[in-house]
Amino acid sequence: MSDAVSAVVNLDLEGPTINRHVYGHFAEHLGRCIYGGFYVGEDSDIPNEGGIRLDVVEALRALDIPNLRWPGGCFADEYHWMDGIGPKSERAAMINTHWGGVEENNHFGTHEFMALCELLGTEPYISGNVGSGTVREMSEWVEYLTSDGDSPMVRLRKANGRDEPWKVKYWGLGNETWGCGGNMSAEQYALEARKYATYCRDYGDNKLYRIAAGAADFNFEWTKTLMEQLSHIGCQRVERPLYQAISVHYYTIAGTWGDKGSATEFDTDEYYTTMAKAARTDELLTGHANVMDLYDPKKEIGIVLDEWGTWWNVEPGTNPGFLYQQNTLRDALVAGLHFDIFHRHADRLVMANIAQTVNVLQAMILTDPDSGALVKTPTYHVFEMNKGHQDASSLEVFTPSGLPTRQVGEGELSTLSVSASRKDGKALFSLSNLDAEGAVEIDLDLRGGSLTEVSSRVLTGEALQTHNTPDEPEAIAPRSHDGVTATGKGLRVRVPAHSFVTVEGRIA
Ligand code: AHR
Repeated sequence: MSDAVSAVVNLDLEGPTINRHVYGHFAEHLGRCIYGGFYVGEDSDIPNEGGIRLDVVEALRALDIPNLRWPGGCFADEYHWMDGIGPKSERAAMINTHWGGVEENNHFGTHEFMALCELLGTEPYISGNVGSGTVREMSEWVEYLTSDGDSPMVRLRKANGRDEPWKVKYWGLGNETWGCGGNMSAEQYALEARKYATYCRDYGDNKLYRIAAGAADFNFEWTKTLMEQLSHIGCQRVERPLYQAISVHYYTIAGTWGDKGSATEFDTDEYYTTMAKAARTDELLTGHANVMDLYDPKKEIGIVLDEWGTWWNVEPGTNPGFLYQQNTLRDALVAGLHFDIFHRHADRLVMANIAQTVNVLQAMILTDPDSGALVKTPTYHVFEMNKGHQDASSLEVFTPSGLPTRQVGEGELSTLSVSASRKDGKALFSLSNLDAEGAVEIDLDLRGGSLTEVSSRVLTGEALQTHNTPDEPEAIAPRSHDGVTATGKGLRVRVPAHSFVTVEGRIA
């Protein structure tokens, strides 16, 4: 083990608040995310409420998930919400062309989604259809959900059993409109977004937070075009921006889109490549934020990273359109690294949604299609261990002599990642040691206060490939960590090889 890394943290110098919505989630009508994952129908043997799996709800409630994005993804731009309301036996079916060509019976629709959000205690984030829908269709969906007046949509909602309007704040104006959401140019979409934003109205005290469909990866030009179109209507400056945020999507893949690599069978080089790709999220957010700063120096328009996470080849033998993948310690470290980056971008990043919550891509929960057994993934545990950062004040972690690094391809990867925050008189530190083989020690030089009642947890496994299964559901689970010792100036933390560690203490 090399010498300890030193880090200075001023416990009394509070940075921007870490929006709890960066711990957001995503549920698409894709593979077994909704059907079999969240929803099994009222007649299932699996305990459910209105068809919603109660074991999944219970597991997710422990994460305090702040929001859930639905119904897509690419599916959103083929979704016609009116097909998913009213008696289930009368709902129109459709083919889910993007995801496996399977039949979608629309049994999980608006009312079921809102019931799920209520059970989870989370805020809905609805992604509207711009690709194949109409302005009227989206406008009426907002009215159906949120209006308290007397109108055809409200009467329809009441006829379907819901008298009170729901509260829906987060509203997406399309998804990946450069691709599956309509193959538009940035200019074309920017004009569309103006129209959609205009007719997605605020009813009563329900104020929509409109999220324009943003760029893929590092396409800063897209963000520039949306920012240009946002701040001017005709030749007049708008009072309130037409949309309150712009999204961006960025996935971590070790290989190519054609061959993304296996979720469980990878070597150490592939592991480091994965980490280097994940670390680029910092460059991604910095780049988009820099463009936005030019048009919005007061940072009133947010960035919403509403799809992020690892994307591997599907598990052998599963439907290629279902995007079902295993989840190992490597995925957990990708999540830990992302959160540190999110915390550092708290001034502009207002929301992030991991893709996706159950049974799809970098999931929190995997359910067995035969036995129904539920498994919490390593990624689940990172969300749980980090939940104390939600709505906390970020604390800068200053490392005067730098962090340990390693050459990966053309670039350098910092193999230790740290972030910190304070809330309710407590400080929380998250530390990811990305080094596959060596432990690292870090001296936290704490200024402006000290810590009492210190506790620590560690998430690691025998190998980078370790994962949980129904037979071994706790191969990776957080354990109490005894690697923290008091020093004259603060704390020394030992972070084992390939591990994620949290340290918490009361600020005195
Ligand atoms: O999350 C899976 C898919 O990835 C989404 O449907 C789409 O928006 C993105 O390309």
